[in-house]
Amino acid sequence: MRIRTLPEYHAAYQQSVENPAAFWGACAEPFTWRKKWTSVLGGEFSPAGRSTWFEGARLNLTENCLDRHLATRGNKLALIFEPNDSKTRHQRFTYRELHQQVCQFANVLLNNGVEKGDRIIIYMPMIPQLAVAVLACARIGAVHSVVFAGFSATAIADRVQDAEATYVITADGLNRGAKQIPVKSVVDEALTTCPAVRRVVVVEHLGWPVLMQAGRDVWYHDEAKNAALTCPAEEMKAEDPLFILYTSGSTGKPKGVVHSQAGYMVWADFTFRNVFQVEENDVHWCTADIGWVTGHTYGLYGPLLAGSTSLLFEGVPTYPDAGRFWEVIDKHHVSIFYTAPTAIRSLMALPLDNVLSYSLSSLRILGSVGEPINEEAWHWYDQHIGKSRCPIVDTWWQTETGGIMISALAGITPSVPARAGLPLPGVQPVLLAQDGTEIAGNDQEGYLAIKASWPGIIRTTWGDHERARQTYFTPYPGYYFTGDGARRDADGLYRIIGRVDDVINVSGHRFGTAEIENAINQNEHVVESAVVGYPHDVKGQGIYAYVICRDGLPTSAADRTIFEASIIETVVAEIGKIAKPDKIQLVSGLPKTRSGKIMRRILRKIAEGETESLGDVTTLLDPAVVAEIVAGRK
Ligand code: WT7
Repeated sequence: MRIRTLPEYHAAYQQSVENPAAFWGACAEPFTWRKKWTSVLGGEFSPAGRSTWFEGARLNLTENCLDRHLATRGNKLALIFEPNDSKTRHQRFTYRELHQQVCQFANVLLNNGVEKGDRIIIYMPMIPQLAVAVLACARIGAVHSVVFAGFSATAIADRVQDAEATYVITADGLNRGAKQIPVKSVVDEALTTCPAVRRVVVVEHLGWPVLMQAGRDVWYHDEAKNAALTCPAEEMKAEDPLFILYTSGSTGKPKGVVHSQAGYMVWADFTFRNVFQVEENDVHWCTADIGWVTGHTYGLYGPLLAGSTSLLFEGVPTYPDAGRFWEVIDKHHVSIFYTAPTAIRSLMALPLDNVLSYSLSSLRILGSVGEPINEEAWHWYDQHIGKSRCPIVDTWWQTETGGIMISALAGITPSVPARAGLPLPGVQPVLLAQDGTEIAGNDQEGYLAIKASWPGIIRTTWGDHERARQTYFTPYPGYYFTGDGARRDADGLYRIIGRVDDVINVSGHRFGTAEIENAINQNEHVVESAVVGYPHDVKGQGIYAYVICRDGLPTSAADRTIFEASIIETVVAEIGKIAKPDKIQLVSGLPKTRSGKIMRRILRKIAEGETESLGDVTTLLDPAVVAEIVAGRK
């Protein structure tokens, strides 16, 4: 189903709401099914949080991503790989080549004993073998869980244990800009606490020496010698799990968001083709790492399902210089470019010369994802990258939603700065008041919730369905609760305001304040901590940590610096560099209610610099602590 005009959008939307079974049944028709479904949609949406889509169907996702295209698109490029170093040659893979590589990787996994349903943690650089490894898992019915290769050994171990993973796929090392990371040794450290892992498959990327543990670790290139280039695809049930992706919530421990086969496939394909208005010759570049959901759905599955060409980039926007994105767009004739506001803001702060040396004439459509895009960044993107001729889609969605939920369809539905826009067909957003009643009409603000199931909805949280139910489906029974606040403007377009729970969004990455506090509290010199987000020019939100030390406040500046550095080290070890606090304030106490609850509202205001409007603090256990914190504000 492809929507090409505004009336078609309205008609599709109406049908998707009035008769979802007919609408999504028709969307699912063109795929390769081993067996068709018996019912399009079933289960219980909310409060049980157990939707099913295409129940009874049998399929394999990689048959739809690869085999299905071989007859007509066998020689078309499926992937273009642009390495970190602009002097290293790029690589290209046709659909036929990618199919072979996926089959070969799948055979390596099978030869190493992987069985359908086994969980495989993938911790790799953004290289073609990452895409191949993910698809190889899907080919044989193993459940992949990609962990972004910026997370620490402890974070990997947590995920291996939670997923009860028995296999790990990794590489020798990783390039990211001027930095290199010995990825395999991070895995080795993680696995000291994961005895259940039977095999580690190591892809050679940088040619670095690594320690190979006999009986556990194997080189991919050795194994590939005995692996055939064809591999039958495992027949999967519609609701078998496809992948687990860990994401942060308002509690301390990240949860494993589970997506399943058929619904995710239909949703990824439908949203990709319609939001980006994809044409046969497009080259699509989603700059997100495959370690995040954006990379899963719009770097890999969506483009391949659509038979498109997807560009994978190993590097960063500023290496070797701040023109790298634009150079890559010209070099590979990228026509659809999908990136994050934080990247745009960091590049717009640099001289425009970095952009002006490139033509960018291949661009047709621009996308933004991960956090609200501010008007200034929107206009810069529009004017300097899109040359005022490319529609911009500001796409709102979440790891849990599998794909884009609220967004313009490029060039078709309205695209207004700082608005995600209208809901996609199948998506029924509502604004809720605190008491859970729906707020009707336009020009209104409330908690953003979704009223009915859609094919890409989260199926469960791995190993603990109750957690999914509690987090998403019971706060407002009858709805899926997003955790975001939103405004519906006078024209009915949605504007996402930001999280209303204890989640902060740093450069488009989600962290729970409790998660970062837990990490900080692992430092042996810390008694207690409280973390809040604050507005940050480039990252969207920065991390502000208030910390109480065991031995009282350090008196000298030097001691303070050492202590702060050790806190950062602890966070880097517990979670990873991406969760480093931007500001640490050492305090002697925290503002607490008489029942001992930390008053985050006050801490947020102080972090934001709004120290004039703290409200009534006299009911606090120790009101004096507030003045001290205000005085010591960073
Ligand atoms: C949270 C989800 C799936 C996209 C990558 C992040 C925020 C995401 C937008 C947008 C305003 C956005 C929300 C959401 N968010 N896109 N276009 N405008 N906010 O996925 O890590 O699951 O985070 O990112 O707060 O709840 P995620």
